[in-house]
Amino acid sequence: MCGIIGYISQEKGVSKKIIHNLKKLEYRGYDSSGICLLKGNTFLVKKSVGEIAKLEQKLNFVDDFDCGIAHTRWATHGKVSLKNTHPHLSQDKCWAVVHNGIIENFLELSKLIKSKGVTLKSETDTETIVALMALQNGDDNIKKLNEVTSMLVGSYAICLLHKGEHALYVARRHSPLYIAKNDNSCMVSSDPVTFGEDYGTYYTLPDDCMAKVTVDKIDVYDKNLNKICVKPSEVGSFEKSAELGKYSFYAEKEISEIPKVIDTILSNYKIVDHFKKINKTFYSQIKKVKLIGCGTAYHACLMGAKYIQNYAHIEAQGYIASEFRYSKPLIDKNTLCIFVSQSGETADTLLSLELAKNMGAKTVAVVNVPYSSIAQKADVVLPLCAGMEVAVMSTKAYNAMLLVLMLLASHLSKFTESPQQFDYDVLKSVDFFKDVQKIDPITDLVLKSEKVFFIGRGEDYVTALEAGLKLKEITYINCVSIPSGELKHGTLSLVDNKSLVFMIATDKNLLAKNISSASEIKARGGKIVLVTNLDEIQSGDIDYVYQFDKITQKFSSIISIIPFQVLAYKTCLRLGYSPDKPRNLAKSVTVE
Ligand code: G6P
Repeated sequence: MCGIIGYISQEKGVSKKIIHNLKKLEYRGYDSSGICLLKGNTFLVKKSVGEIAKLEQKLNFVDDFDCGIAHTRWATHGKVSLKNTHPHLSQDKCWAVVHNGIIENFLELSKLIKSKGVTLKSETDTETIVALMALQNGDDNIKKLNEVTSMLVGSYAICLLHKGEHALYVARRHSPLYIAKNDNSCMVSSDPVTFGEDYGTYYTLPDDCMAKVTVDKIDVYDKNLNKICVKPSEVGSFEKSAELGKYSFYAEKEISEIPKVIDTILSNYKIVDHFKKINKTFYSQIKKVKLIGCGTAYHACLMGAKYIQNYAHIEAQGYIASEFRYSKPLIDKNTLCIFVSQSGETADTLLSLELAKNMGAKTVAVVNVPYSSIAQKADVVLPLCAGMEVAVMSTKAYNAMLLVLMLLASHLSKFTESPQQFDYDVLKSVDFFKDVQKIDPITDLVLKSEKVFFIGRGEDYVTALEAGLKLKEITYINCVSIPSGELKHGTLSLVDNKSLVFMIATDKNLLAKNISSASEIKARGGKIVLVTNLDEIQSGDIDYVYQFDKITQKFSSIISIIPFQVLAYKTCLRLGYSPDKPRNLAKSVTVE
């Protein structure tokens, strides 16, 4: 979603550096962008709707600015327009702001601001921040910022410029913000991925804190205005791993990295004992497990719940984070809550984590971004080791989530009477992309159909959900995923000779039941593509069989999704859409 860059330098001509780094945030999703440059008392603001490249074209002036803020906006309050694009200036033109997050009480604040005779120009919640800054009296800008942030309800990461000052003012609550410094510049960013080229270390601004950033120093304050010390973190290989290399799209690159990611997880979990804190005493205190996430991560939660229940014999259930928060969950110290997230910043997942912690649960984070808020707040962190994921459609992170959750489930099973120790090294010899070229004719079938369905039972139903999500999010094809057994309870009425049904079948014991579902579909004229690793398929009702590598049933859930990831990618290209940046979606959903 929205992205923030703030930059202050001893040298003039900062716009190039700012735009270069703003582009590194493009992957998060945005629909407009803007920049505000400052030199002494002069502000220069440029904005553009659409690609950052359009904003860049507007920067055709002599750049002798030494300070600036910039933003990629993903519209929440107010439509996509130049007027609503950040940065926003205060009416007296003394303050400029960029903001990530949502100010929930902005209507109330707007009324207050208008009652003081100030006009607001945009429809955004953000503009209230600069308006309030301008209404504060006194000379101490940190004090003013503290005053203003104490009035804000909701989440924010903000970066401000003040006329006549060579400084950046920043503050945050629930939205991440980072600051890096070298000998002649400082950069503020909503994602440390921007720091790799110029900085060795960076600081994470703590929640509910503010800072004044100049070229010489970073002064951080808590909400009681006490100066606080923040430990720096190294800019690691994760932040540097976003290069596209030889690939045309990140989606393609990230799908192709799946075997490497699986390998890395297996090696990393052998070397590092990530389960150290999850010992026998920990296990004996767990009465139930709740797995919480959004989107693809939610599907990983559903699968993880099956692994934990089957291998560790503890009642486990997956929840959508935005539902979980308002479901009055029954949580106590005997509940293990597992938060699954690629970015570690998804607002609903993060707020669910806070809720669970406040209710006394044990918390585990299964996350990819090592410095993320969820990773920082959970009791135990199980890293996904997937490297940076840029494409909005999450692929390699999903396979990684399943493997890590399976490792966790088999670790928990050690404390039961029937430990489940698997030969994970089998995964190293899998041909993950076996017969992947056979997906082209299936793409033809998808493009010829009017309706697409994904069905399966047990773990295969979860794969059906994730397969449907992959296809719809980047091809805009409307599709339905349901358990095979539910077909005749409603959805079968949709099936006709324009329908294509993907049936996922990896469990020998459920094969006969799947074949009878196939007959029901065939009888209504639907075409069936069976995706399986089984050999025993003998049914005249199946139109096309896609067979993936014959991996043992235990691991098939980790592999069976790959053909669907490839199918979505190929179909998207055939339709001429962008596989990395689907319309209306963002990589990291940092607002509720
Ligand atoms: C967004 C992304 C999805 C992702 C979901 C959860 O909707 O577009 O691909 O699955 O957020 O993200 P997380 O970072 O928490 O896994």
